[in-house]
Amino acid sequence: MTIGIGLLGLGTVGAGVAAILSAPAGRHPLVDQLRLQRVAVRDLSRPRPLELDPALLTTDPEAVVQDPAVDIVVEVMGGLEPARSLILSAIAAGKSVVTANKAVIARHGQEIAAAAAARGVYVLIEAAVGGGIPIIEPLKQSLGANRIQRVSGIINGTTNYILTRMADEGALYGTVLADAQALGYAEADPAADVEGGDAADKIAILAGLAYGGGVERSAIPTEGISGLQARDVSYADQLGFRVKLLAVAQSEGTDPDGTEQLDVRVHPTLVPKDHPLAGVNGVNNAILVEGDPVGRVMFYGPGAGAGPTASAVVADILNIAGIRQVGGPSAGLDPLLAAGSWRRCRLVDPAVTRHRNYLRLQTTDQAGVIGRIGSCFGQEEVSIQSIVQFQASGGEAEIVVITHEVQEARFRAALTAIAALPDVKAVAACLRTL
Ligand code: NAP
Ligand code: HSE
Repeated sequence: MTIGIGLLGLGTVGAGVAAILSAPAGRHPLVDQLRLQRVAVRDLSRPRPLELDPALLTTDPEAVVQDPAVDIVVEVMGGLEPARSLILSAIAAGKSVVTANKAVIARHGQEIAAAAAARGVYVLIEAAVGGGIPIIEPLKQSLGANRIQRVSGIINGTTNYILTRMADEGALYGTVLADAQALGYAEADPAADVEGGDAADKIAILAGLAYGGGVERSAIPTEGISGLQARDVSYADQLGFRVKLLAVAQSEGTDPDGTEQLDVRVHPTLVPKDHPLAGVNGVNNAILVEGDPVGRVMFYGPGAGAGPTASAVVADILNIAGIRQVGGPSAGLDPLLAAGSWRRCRLVDPAVTRHRNYLRLQTTDQAGVIGRIGSCFGQEEVSIQSIVQFQASGGEAEIVVITHEVQEARFRAALTAIAALPDVKAVAACLRTL
C-alpha cells in the first residue's frame, strides 16, 4: 500500500524531505511506501537542488491539500498565513498533517489540535522544536509518567551558531548571521531568530506539552541576542561563563483551582563553563528536562538545517503511515500521540521570579563608587556574588557585578537606584546568569 505525500514548500526543509523520500534504500521499509504526489512552491522558475518531475510542482497549495492522491499533508512553507488555513483545510479534508512550523503551532496550536481531534486526524510537530533532536515525542510519550519541574535549553540553532563563532573566533555578528542564512539555519526573516521570537515559539510549545496546557505566546518575556555586545561575551569568558540564548519553562506551583503557574522566558544567559549547556556549540541545540521521578535528562543534537529537520519530519510521516497500515485511526486517536491539553496553565508575573544577574556599569573611576553601588544592592537585599572592575581608563571604569539569586522586582529596584547615582554614567548591559 502506498501513501501519498503532499508537500507544501520545497525550500530548505521541503527539499530535505523530498531527498529522503527519493532515496529509501537502507531506511525503514515504510519509507519506500511514501510517494511524493504534489508539491506547492511560490516560484516555479526557481532552480531546485533536487531533480523532481516538474509536473508535481504547483503554485496552488490548496490544490495539494485537496488532491485525492495526497493522504498526508506536510506543511514546510513557514509563516502564519496561508500556513494556518492550509493546515485547517487539510484537517477538514480528513488528512493528517506534519508541520515544522513552530510559529503557527505556538499561536494557533490549540485551535489546530481541537480541529484535528474533532476530525479524528493527527497533527505531528516533531520538527518544530530542536531540528533533528527527538524532543516532542519524548515529552508526549516517553516522559509522560513524570511531574515536570523544568524544561530549559538552547533551542535556536542560528543564535547558537552566531554566539559560538563570536566567542571562539571573535567573528562579527553580521558576517556570522549571513553564514547562518546561507547554511539554511535561519528563518525567512532572521529577526525571528536573533530577537528570540523563534525560541519563544518553541518554549511555548514545549511548555504546553510538558505541563499539559497552552501558554499565552505573546506574554512570554523575550530577549534576543541582537543587542548583545562582544565585550560582554569577552568579560563573561574571563569570569568563567559562556553566553547562550536560553529558553526556560519552569513550574512555580499551582493555584488553588489547579491551574499550573509557569515561569516561561527567553534571554541571553551567562552559563558557567562546567554546566552541560556551556559545551553546546554551533548549530547544535540541547534541551534539559527535569522531572519527578526521572531526574534530569538531556537531549542534544543538530537544531536546524535541511537534513536534521527533514529527519524529524519524515519520522512523523512514518508514525502516521504506521497507523494507516494497521487500519487508520478509525477506532479513535492514540491520546499520547495526539497530545491534547489536560489542565490550565498561566504565566506568573515576571517581577516575582528569581534569577542571578550579570550587570555591566560604566562609572567614574573614583574611590567609593563600588561602595555606593554595593549600598544600593544592600538596601534591596540583593546579595552580590562578585564585583570586578575592568578597563579603567580616561577617568572612567567598567564595573561588572554578578548577583546571587534574587527576586526580579528587588533587582530592578536596586538597578533604578544605581542608575541614578552621579558616579554611574550608564547601565551598559544587564543579563541573566545561571
Ligand atoms: P524556506 O527555505 O524559506 O522554504 C519555504 C518554502 O515554502 C519554499 O519552497 C517556498 O517556495 C514555499 N512557499 C512559501 N510560501 C508559499 C506559498 N504561499 N505558496 C506556495 N509555496 C510557498 O523555509 P525552510 O527553512 O524550509 O522552513 C520551512 C518551515 O520549517 C518554517 O516553518 C521553519 O520555521 C521550519 N523549520 C525550519 C528549519 C530550518 O533549519 N530551516 C528547522 C526547523 C523548522 P519557493 O521555493 O518557490 O520560494
Ligand atoms: N531558525 C531555526 C533555528 C530553525 O535556527 O533554530 C530550526 O527551528
